[in-house]
Amino acid sequence: MAKANTQTSNPDTPRHVAIIMDGNGRWARRRHLPRFAGHRAGLESVRKTIRACGEQGVEVLTLFAFSSENWRRPKEEVGLLMNLFLNALDKEVGKLHENNIRLRIIGDITAFSSEIQQRIVDAERLTCNNTALQLNIAANFGGRWDIAQSCRQLAARVAKGELSAEAITPELIHQGLSLAALPEPDLFIRSGGEQRISNFLLWQLAYTELYFTDLLWPEFDEAAFNEALLSFARRQRRFGRTGEQVEAERITHA
Ligand code: IPE
Ligand code: IPE
Ligand code: MG
Repeated sequence: MAKANTQTSNPDTPRHVAIIMDGNGRWARRRHLPRFAGHRAGLESVRKTIRACGEQGVEVLTLFAFSSENWRRPKEEVGLLMNLFLNALDKEVGKLHENNIRLRIIGDITAFSSEIQQRIVDAERLTCNNTALQLNIAANFGGRWDIAQSCRQLAARVAKGELSAEAITPELIHQGLSLAALPEPDLFIRSGGEQRISNFLLWQLAYTELYFTDLLWPEFDEAAFNEALLSFARRQRRFGRTGEQVEAERITHA
């Protein structure tokens, strides 16, 4: 059932989860399959994760699908990934819309074929009024690119005389970032065992709780997602304050 999202009042549930879906290639290699089979299998984990977000009351899900560095992969793998992306846009967008899910693609989409760019525009337009899960797919995305493109917009305003250089603040830079309209990620998950950010959301992860799992992305399912949420619920987020201050506030608000 499609239902509108009401803001969760439970601070133990992350409003925004951001995921690096890593380990598809290794999953395939372990099965003596071509790497691409891992990418295809990973799509099922995406479906499971979207479902789990709906069940758990997560409002925003951001998935890293293709980094600005992934163009360095063999041409054949890049081509197959583009086809998978195009097919997914064709096949899945209708279902997302039925479930009241809003889709945004973040990243420099000008590098994609005109066919893909058109599908992206259509999908974003179709789902733009949906109010359940806010789903962001990061494609040809890089955290450094995101910060640079925001700064470029500010520099243009300075050059036109609309803004003084002294007026540039972290808030202004933030307003030009890809996810400016949405709450910052509360929980970051990376599958596949590596413990690095790989140029994902650099600015937005400043105070995000980090969670790493050795599961390869095609193995990631609802149980794995719920385990990450449990880990999140056990943490105390201090944002620079002392643990005692946070605890005192929690008691007053209870
Ligand atoms: C993540 O899986 C998917 C993309 C980067 C597109 P990988 O393809 O990086 O899988 P591993 O890390 O080689 O196992
Ligand atoms: C990060 O995974 C990018 C995506 C999951 C889309 P990579 O597999 O590209 O990361 P590195 O190269 O191991 O850091
Ligand atoms: Mg990888």
